[in-house]
Amino acid sequence: METTTIDEIQVREARHVLQTYKRLPVTFVRGEGVRLYDTEGREYLDLLSGIGVASLGHAHPGLARAIADQAQTLIHTSNLFYHPLQGQLAERLAKLSGLPRAFFCNSGTEAVEACLKFARRYWHTRGEPRAEFIAFENSFHGRTFGALSVTSNEHYRAPFEPLLPGVRFVPVNDAKALTAAVSRSTAAIIAEPIQGEGGVRPLTPAFASAITAAASTTGALIIADEVQSGLGRTGYPFYAPVLGLHPDLISIGKALGGGVAVGAALVSQKVADTIAFGDHGSTYGGNLLACRAALCFLDELDGGGLLAHVARVGDHLERALRTMAARHPLIKEVRGAGLIWGLELTSDAAPVIQEGLARGVIVNRTAETVVRLLPPLVITETEIDEAVGRLDAAFGAVGADK
Ligand SMILES: Cc1ncc(COP(=O)(O)O)c(C=O)c1O
Repeated sequence: METTTIDEIQVREARHVLQTYKRLPVTFVRGEGVRLYDTEGREYLDLLSGIGVASLGHAHPGLARAIADQAQTLIHTSNLFYHPLQGQLAERLAKLSGLPRAFFCNSGTEAVEACLKFARRYWHTRGEPRAEFIAFENSFHGRTFGALSVTSNEHYRAPFEPLLPGVRFVPVNDAKALTAAVSRSTAAIIAEPIQGEGGVRPLTPAFASAITAAASTTGALIIADEVQSGLGRTGYPFYAPVLGLHPDLISIGKALGGGVAVGAALVSQKVADTIAFGDHGSTYGGNLLACRAALCFLDELDGGGLLAHVARVGDHLERALRTMAARHPLIKEVRGAGLIWGLELTSDAAPVIQEGLARGVIVNRTAETVVRLLPPLVITETEIDEAVGRLDAAFGAVGADK
C-alpha cells in the first residue's frame, strides 16, 4: 500500500472526495481491540467503534480469520442462487429476536427502508392500503428517501424535500400525543428503543405500553429500529423487549458484521405472509462474506458470552461515568444502558471531543450538546477506567477554559 502523510491524504481527499463529511484531523491506519493507531503511531482508546460498528473491537483475530477464509473460498454469488450461510444467519437471528424471517441488505438505512416497504406491502396485500407512518421527534433512521422521511432533523431533511407524505412526528414519551396521532390510516409506528443520534434518549416503558396500545387498537404495525441499540449494545439482544415492546419488524445493521457491511430487516410471520417474490431485493444483500462475518459476530454474542460481558462492564462504565459527571458541572445528565451512553452537557460538546482526541480517547458529539459513547462490546473494566480517566482530563481542560 502506498504510504502517504496526513497532509497528502487531506489534500487528495479535499480535491476528489465529495465533501459530505467534516472529518476530524486524524488518520487511523491500524487497530487492535479497543485501540486505534494514527499515521504518527499515536495510540487512542476507541469509545466509539466506528459509530457502533466494530462490535468485536479492531482486528479481532477470529473475525479476521473468518473473513480471510471466506474471501479465499467465495465472496459473492448474488441472490439468484442459494448459498449455505444466509439461511444459517437468518435462523440464528430468528432465535435471537423471535421474528422468524430475515431480509438481508447492506446498511442500517436499507434495513429501515425494507421495514417501511414491508409495512406498506402488508396493508396493500390485505386490500386495505395504508400510507401513513408515525415517527418521533429527535429520531434518526438513515439518509435514503424513506428512512429520511421518518427522520425528524430538519437539517437533514430540508434540502431534499419533498419527502414521503403522510409521516407524522410525535414528541417522545408523550403518550397522549401518540394516541391522538395513531389511526386506522397508520401503516406503522417506527421507534428507536433508545434514540441514538438524537442524543441517547431511551423510551420509557410507559411510552412503550402506549405504543403497544395504539398499535393494537388500530392494527398499526410496530417497527423497532435497533440499528444502534440492538445486538448486544445494551447487554440484551434487543432493547425493545426490555421496554415491553414486541415489534412486527426490526431493523438491524452496525454491530452485525463487526465492520463488514451488512444489515437486515427481521420480519414477523404475519408480515412475511404478505410478501411475494420480487417485492424487494439487493444485489449484495446477504452475500457469503457478509453472512460469514455476521455468523462470527453472533458466535461471540451468544456462544462467546459477550451479552453477559456487556451487562457486567456496562454497569462498570455507568458507575465510572456518573462518578466523573459529579466532578464536572458541565455535565447535566448521564443517559443510556449497557455500552451506549450519552453525556448531556450545558453547552456545545465539540470542545470535549477535541480535547479527548488530544488525550487519546475517541468519543463523538451528537445532538450538539451530547457526548456519545459506543465502545466495542469487548471492552474490559481496565480499558474503561483508562478511557474514562482520559475523558475526565478532557472535561477538566474544557471546564478550565470556561
Ligand atoms: C437507529 C439508526 N437507524 C438507522 C441508521 C442508519 O444506518 P446506516 O448509516 O448504516 O445507513 C442509523 C445510523 O446511525 C441509526 O442509528
